[in-house]
Amino acid sequence: MQPQPLDSILEGRRSRPDQLIETLLDIQQQYGYLSEASLRTVSDCLGVPLMDVYGVASFYKAFSLTPRGKNVITVCTGTACHVRGAQLNLNQAAGQLGVQPGEMTRDGLFTINHVNCLGACALGPVVTVNGSYQHHVTPGEVRKLIKSLSRDKMTEENLDD
Ligand code: FES
Repeated sequence: MQPQPLDSILEGRRSRPDQLIETLLDIQQQYGYLSEASLRTVSDCLGVPLMDVYGVASFYKAFSLTPRGKNVITVCTGTACHVRGAQLNLNQAAGQLGVQPGEMTRDGLFTINHVNCLGACALGPVVTVNGSYQHHVTPGEVRKLIKSLSRDKMTEENLDD
């Protein structure tokens, strides 16, 4: 499905600085990230200095300034998860997908990230997949998860044929 045009997202928001976060969320949802061009357009339209738009876009984890894959896998490598093997989960994801944290796979299907705490330390190692928490995750489960999400993509493609 084509993303909603930027003009249409900005409709009714001209000179409305109070709409900054909602506008950025809508663009993020439609395009998967906030390009430099989109930040400039938002700045002009809402009347918010570009520096402030950039400040908000780079402050919140919900926003990404680089393209993200369809599936975002976030591995917690904070202390509580680290001592239970979180690095092995991150290594599994990076090795299986051939990307480093912060990068997107060439097919646009996955981005992997790591963070310092996901707020569920007692249940570690913790991994989120598109925001959904997985607890006590092992490298084998990471492998299965990635395989399963890859299979879903292949099924979608076959249905499109
Ligand atoms: S350290 Fe991983 S959830 Fe807190």
